[in-house]
Amino acid sequence: MRILVTGGTGFIGSHTCVELLNNHFEVIIIDNLSNSSATVVADIETITNKKVVFYEGDVCDKQLLEKIFNQHQIDGVIHFAGYKAVGESVQLPLKYYNNNLMSTTTLLEVMQQFNCTKIVFSSSATVYGEPHANPITEDFPLKTTNPYGSTKLYCEQILKDFQFANPEFSVAVLRYFNPIGAHCSGLIGENPKDIPNNLMPYIMKVAAKQLPQLSVFGNDYPTVDGSGVRDYIHVVDLAIGHIKALQFLKSTTGFHPFNLGTGNGVSVLQLVELFKKVNQVDVPYQIVARRSGDVATNYANAEKANRLLGWKAEKTVEDMCRDAWNYMKNHSN
Ligand code: WQD
Repeated sequence: MRILVTGGTGFIGSHTCVELLNNHFEVIIIDNLSNSSATVVADIETITNKKVVFYEGDVCDKQLLEKIFNQHQIDGVIHFAGYKAVGESVQLPLKYYNNNLMSTTTLLEVMQQFNCTKIVFSSSATVYGEPHANPITEDFPLKTTNPYGSTKLYCEQILKDFQFANPEFSVAVLRYFNPIGAHCSGLIGENPKDIPNNLMPYIMKVAAKQLPQLSVFGNDYPTVDGSGVRDYIHVVDLAIGHIKALQFLKSTTGFHPFNLGTGNGVSVLQLVELFKKVNQVDVPYQIVARRSGDVATNYANAEKANRLLGWKAEKTVEDMCRDAWNYMKNHSN
């Protein structure tokens, strides 16, 4: 099968391309490199010893999409491309709504034009907002607290309405919890160009002495040690979940949301201490005020993905800490 991967040079996209190639899919990437580098294409090819077709461009560019679908018999799409910084989305909501929604509607128009009916969409646990309980199942109420999260929620609704109107389409929506870690080769991983929003890349820049210390956003939450609790999942486990979702879509139609998480909650302070222990590095930190919009706890019930996709996260938090640092040591310039 030939798969178009939008946003394929990004953190999760690149790891998914590796797993696609390892599973004998052919891969075509379209990415505008707004938050990644073209060197990732070569890294993917080095890891897998297989070739990738790469188009630098924007998924909102309908002519480019039509050119790609004209030149290649695309059997399915995995749609990662989109802006994803929560804080920036609050400052620039139109940037997020225009890009994240238009890319999805444009992609669906072209897929329909070329009778490509299988799509896996990169969603996020952020669509659950502040859950009323944990672990979270897919039937929990959906509500968002920032424009980034809302673009994920609205894209899910667009996909659901589109699939209802076009029953021959098969849609899997994957709600990621907190992806961290890196491929064991250390060639690909998460290395944001600016000051990181997310916890693990921030920890790594402090450990690499690129930032002075970590700010822990609050230790007065009703959790094991007062700091926020999340469901951290190894990015390779997450990537494999996309392969399983594609294989599931081969034999079914409909609209199918899935949680991709480990089912275990880990606190900020627990992750920091584990990272220091596993990698024998220091990570100085200070406790500061809570970050607005944060929830105390969220972690997944991933039973549905296990039951229908035959998928389960295998890697430990220790693996995530070790692999993330291994990548950072190779890219700390
Ligand atoms: C994790 C924990 C923070 C940074 C977001 C998006 C979600 C997904 C993942 C894209 C929280 C604490 C963090 C720091 C800290 N992104 N923290 N100091 O907020 O769970 O989820 O990123 O899909 O959609 O909502 O992830 O890594 O930002 O925070 O104390 O410098 O670490 O308070 O408890 P989050 P995160």
